[in-house]
Amino acid sequence: MAEKIKVCTGNFGKGAQDIAVYKKLGGYANISSRLFDLSQFEVIDLVQRSGLRGRGGAGFPTGLKWSFVPRNTGKPVYIVVNADEGEPGTFKDHFLMIEDPHRLIEGLIIAGWALGSRTAYIYVRGEFLPCIESLNKAISQAYAEGLLGKNIGGTKFSFDIFVHRGAGAYICGEETALINSLEGQKGQPRLKPPFPAVSGAWKSPTCVNNVETLMALPWIFQNSPEAYAALGTASAGGTKVFCVSGDVKRTGVYEAPLGTPVMELLTSSEYACGIDGTLKGVIPGGSSCPVLLPEECEKATLDYECMSCFKTMFGSGAVMPFNTTRDVVVLLNTLGNFYSHESCGQCTPCREGTGYAKRIINSILNGEGHDGDLELLLSLSDQYNGTTICPLAPALGAPMTAFIKKYRSEFEAYIEKNPNHGSPRICATYRPGAFW
Ligand SMILES: Cc1cc2nc3c(=O)[nH]c(=O)nc-3n(C[C@H](O)[C@H](O)[C@H](O)COP(=O)(O)O)c2cc1C
Ligand code: SF4
Repeated sequence: MAEKIKVCTGNFGKGAQDIAVYKKLGGYANISSRLFDLSQFEVIDLVQRSGLRGRGGAGFPTGLKWSFVPRNTGKPVYIVVNADEGEPGTFKDHFLMIEDPHRLIEGLIIAGWALGSRTAYIYVRGEFLPCIESLNKAISQAYAEGLLGKNIGGTKFSFDIFVHRGAGAYICGEETALINSLEGQKGQPRLKPPFPAVSGAWKSPTCVNNVETLMALPWIFQNSPEAYAALGTASAGGTKVFCVSGDVKRTGVYEAPLGTPVMELLTSSEYACGIDGTLKGVIPGGSSCPVLLPEECEKATLDYECMSCFKTMFGSGAVMPFNTTRDVVVLLNTLGNFYSHESCGQCTPCREGTGYAKRIINSILNGEGHDGDLELLLSLSDQYNGTTICPLAPALGAPMTAFIKKYRSEFEAYIEKNPNHGSPRICATYRPGAFW
């Protein structure tokens, strides 16, 4: 069987943290006339042709995003790496940064050249200490070899990278909250427009990209945009780094081509090696993605088109299968606790609405549910859409709707435990000792 191409994880376990090893493995070969002979627009065109789409969750085409960054405004252009990785179930970026930090640096140099930037910030989740150590060490080595700093490769291009430690809030992964936090302000999302590409960090043009997105660039340059596009599907090129956790025989980080069947990722000996128990459902792309039933998983493939056909999302690639011993009411209760806790509080539908949903789910779980609660939750979920500054509240609403619609009888069984379930709900009471 032909070996699968690994765009981002090919250097795992090979000691590529050391610059000499990284170079021996072909690293930094792009930081030469191969890159510097191309104009900024040729580089952007090449990235567009590759079909690379952002790997942080939204899947926005990377080359197109770069084309929005204005030139010659008299302001600096900043590149910000989103290494916050707070989506529950997602753990690929910190492995990528620990195992292959030079690939991120090389990707950043390519992005820096394309965007006419001379400064990049890597915004890393504060708790990821081994990543921060690995990045700082690699950055020092790159400076020592003249790959960063002034006049890289004897050109007029100068480029600096700074590692910035975040303070640990899920919302700081949203790109405008991240920019606020980087500036030293409260980590709260900004109203858009203006979009960061036009007015981001310190009101300057700013491009925010995920770690994995940038780490695909060296491979695209070393091979070709067409080769990268051919690895994926019609609407997106390349491979994806998946984080598989939950009820499988072998959890881990696996790189697979876009379009890989869900069940292949979960059962193949190359990846997660099989379901532990009997499959009950799969959350396909991180906690904000609607769940898939086993019969849907049999048909679904891991790509943008297929996930949207099943009314779910590809997200950040966090695939979380769970077996029949798992209680979906408990699962939804955990999500309600998480999203209401992480709301930054700016928008009423999110600040009040996620807390309200959480209290209703919590009371259902505690045998205090009422008839009509499920309709109330579905209605709340609808009310989050289009009424908030950022998608945090809809990120609870979408999985909540799917859990209720797909496992309704399990929620109803809990509600029937309440002897007074037929009486109307007066309010969703605060429960002393409950998690807030
Ligand atoms: C609540 C919330 C949390 C997010 N967390 C992350 C994150 O941890 N990492 C990330 O790359 N993108 C995250 N995003 C998406 C970013 O806002 C942004 O779309 C992404 O960093 C853009 O990079 P990409 O185009 O390379 O995907 C989050 C979005 C939201 C709404
Ligand atoms: S939706 Fe929630 S997290 Fe997002 S800006 Fe509004 S209050 Fe903050």
